[in-house]
Amino acid sequence: MTVLDLGCGPGFFTLEMARLVGPAGRVTAADLQQGMLAKAEQKLAAAGLTDRASFHLCGAGAIGLPPAQRFDFALVFYMLHEVPAALRFLREVRSLLKPGGRALVAEPKWHVTRAAFQAAIGLMKQAGFVVLSQPPIRFSRAVVLG
Ligand SMILES: C[S@@+](CC[C@H](N)C(=O)[O-])C[C@H]1O[C@@H](n2cnc3c(N)ncnc32)[C@H](O)[C@@H]1O
Repeated sequence: MTVLDLGCGPGFFTLEMARLVGPAGRVTAADLQQGMLAKAEQKLAAAGLTDRASFHLCGAGAIGLPPAQRFDFALVFYMLHEVPAALRFLREVRSLLKPGGRALVAEPKWHVTRAAFQAAIGLMKQAGFVVLSQPPIRFSRAVVLG
């Protein structure tokens, strides 16, 4: 699989996804902060997995990955609430998925109320996503989108 870790932060999930995709898979870690990408890159290097990883600095107003790049899976973990223009962002996420691709959006319960998450689900639907499931993730509100 080719997977995208959006708002990767220091790369906690980037590393695990790099392990999961195996030698034939690829993971792209993307973040607004160069410092976070550097930390993620260090983690991958320490694990000897940089050959299956790439790192992308997002713009403030757009993810900005090349339009030809498409992913089987996008992880949007604990970052959507930090994005001011969430609908535009979600539309861009959707455009980055291959047909049949999936996204997992998770938000921290202590920071994002049930009502706020419901409103975010409304935006996900407006962006063209279908909610496939709401997996239980500890401390989180989460949806799998297709
Ligand atoms: C709370 S951290 C979560 C990090 C990681 N996903 C995790 O769960 O360990 C949120 C990250 O999202 C990034 N971020 C916020 N807005 C962003 C945007 N519009 N595009 C890309 N990254 C963004 C921040 O720089 C930060 O590294």
